[in-house]
Order: sequence, then C-alpha cells, then structure tokens
Amino acid sequence: MALEAIKYSRGELRILNQLLLPHLTVYEAVKTTDDGWNAIKAMKVRGAPAIAIVGCLSLAVEITKSEFTSVEALVEFTRERLAYLVTARPTAVNMSRAASDIGATLCQLVARPGATIDSVEKGLLEAIEAMMAKDLSDNKSLGRFGAEHIMANSQKDKAIVLTHCNTGSLATSGYGTALGVVRCLHESGWLERVYCTETRPYNQGSRLTAYELVSDAIPGTLITDSMAAFAMKERGITAVVVGADRVAGNGDTANKVGTYQLAVAAKHHGIPFYVAAPSTSCDLTLEGGEGIVIEERPHAELTEINGTRVAPPGIDVWNPAFDVTPQDLITGGIVTELGVFEPSKLKEALQAKEK
Ligand code: MRU
Repeated sequence: MALEAIKYSRGELRILNQLLLPHLTVYEAVKTTDDGWNAIKAMKVRGAPAIAIVGCLSLAVEITKSEFTSVEALVEFTRERLAYLVTARPTAVNMSRAASDIGATLCQLVARPGATIDSVEKGLLEAIEAMMAKDLSDNKSLGRFGAEHIMANSQKDKAIVLTHCNTGSLATSGYGTALGVVRCLHESGWLERVYCTETRPYNQGSRLTAYELVSDAIPGTLITDSMAAFAMKERGITAVVVGADRVAGNGDTANKVGTYQLAVAAKHHGIPFYVAAPSTSCDLTLEGGEGIVIEERPHAELTEINGTRVAPPGIDVWNPAFDVTPQDLITGGIVTELGVFEPSKLKEALQAKEK
C-alpha cells in the first residue's frame, strides 16, 4: 500500500500527523480551515504541494458543512479563508497559487447565468478536488521525465542518486517530486541506490524519506548533511535531485536549507544537479530568488533534541528553514510535469505550454 499523507472524501479530511513519524501512524481529522492552518503551521503536514492541498481541502470540508444564506456570503467566506490559509507558512508558493486559482474559478462560477449557492459550492468543491488528482498525475509525469533525463545523460545503466529533505508521498498528494524521480528510476530497474540526507534540524530525511524508502523497499542509505560532499567524491553519485518550495522566473530555487550547499558541492564534482517540482511550485511573478521570503523557525529546533537542551543557554541561533540555490548551479535542469528545462528557459517554456 502506498503511503498516504492525505485521506479525503467529500466532507471528510484526515491527515497523517508527520510529527509522530516514524514511530506512530496516526491520522487526525481536519474539520475546518482553522484546523488546516494549525496543521500546516505545526508541520503535521509539510512539503510545498501537500501544504496547498490540505489547506484547500480544509476549506472544501468547511464549505460542505456550512450553511450559506447567499452567493455573496459564500464568496466572501471563501476569499477570506483562502487569504488566511496563505499566511500559515511563507516560503512555498503552492498555497498562494492555489488561492489565486480558486479565486479565479470562483469569479467564473459566480458569473455563470443563474448561479446559485449550490452551483457555486459544487463548482468550488470540484475545482479543489481536481487539484489533488492533478498533483498526483503531475508527479508521475515529472518522475518519468526526470528519470529518463538522468539515464539519457549517464554513461552507466543504473543511477546512484543523492536527495535532500522529504519530497515523496508524504509531501504531496502521492508519488512525490524529487522522490517521484527516484521512484520512477526504481520502478524502471534503473536505480542502484539513493542516498538521503538526514536534513537537520527537522530531520525530514531521516524521519520521513528514510521511512518512505524502507516502506517501498527502495535501496536507500542515510547520511548526515555534513557527509554529502564526501559521498559525492566516494560513492559514485550520478545525480543530485531535490524538490522546491518556490522556483523564481529565472530558475533560482528556494528549497529546504542545505540545498544550496549540495548544489555547490555537486558543481565541484561535476555531478548534474536537478530540481524536481510541478509547475504549481513555480512563481513566474518573481524575476529572481532575492524576492523569496525565507521562513525562520524556532531556535529550539537547534538547541534541543527531543526536548533535551544540547546547546549552552545564551548562544545566539539562526534557523532559516530554506535557502535559495542560484539557477547557474542547477546544472541538470528543472524537472516539471511538462518536461525538463534549463533554468534560464523555464519561464518561457511554462508560459508557452500554458497558452
Ligand atoms: O519545511 P518543509 O518540510 O515543508 O520543507 C519541505 C521541502 O523543502 C521540500 O523539499 C519541498 O517542499 C519540496 S516537497 C515536494
């Protein structure tokens, strides 16, 4: 059975509490947008696509359970709740893109002749539910594009991949982005091994990616973040593949902190560096990565381990959750559901496909 971070049927949403993994598998009900916002903020659900899907599905559930007295009341509620959901975490673009897409759908639904509360509600729920299905099919497409590109550019018949953070089923509606590329390599018989970094300080790699690899029997090796350059030198890494929280128009990419140093090390070793992300993670309104807001997280993530203090009181701490990798270090390409693009050609390629 594939791992499922999000279980949804109309009127009911449950999410796997990722704070308890890998020890406990506990699904929690999300009944309102307040529940959705809190689950995202507390990182019970995390990963750029999953954040947007849970945010929007929490709205779908709340709309299903609410009684609206007019179309205007439904519209006002939807707009206000979407704006609120966007504030839960700032760096991933997916929730704000989803909010603007749903806002546009709302305008079309209301403008239809004879629009009623029921017709607008039905259209909204269908649009939100379609997002979840599209994310899964996008991941499968980008997984295949990425796997084929890696193999086409490699001299060997099996790939050894290094990845960072968690980008798999737990971070998406299923299959994954960078881990989707790894899954596709594995399913095609092209994967020798994947190295996953621990991903300090939140340990998405050791807690979540390692868990997915073991669950799916994908050959994986866990390393600390500080071993990555040495692994590139010693372990025959074919490609580094990471996900993205926001890709700017020029290809600069915000992703889990530690991504930038992997790209620097990959360039030094002549290893292709790929970003794998659906087009919903691309923010073409931004020219470059300098406009991306980087979330800073609590100091305790560094100074404590499982509630036990490991750093001296009084030490200053800096804990950015993400960093920005400049586009010239993304040497393999940006893998999307529409194909693999050189970073400098991403914007033009996505705009052409959207037409
Ligand atoms: O802080 P997180 O766990 O939400 O960060 C997740 C990442 O940085 C992922 O690499 C990114 O969202 C891509 S998820 C498919």
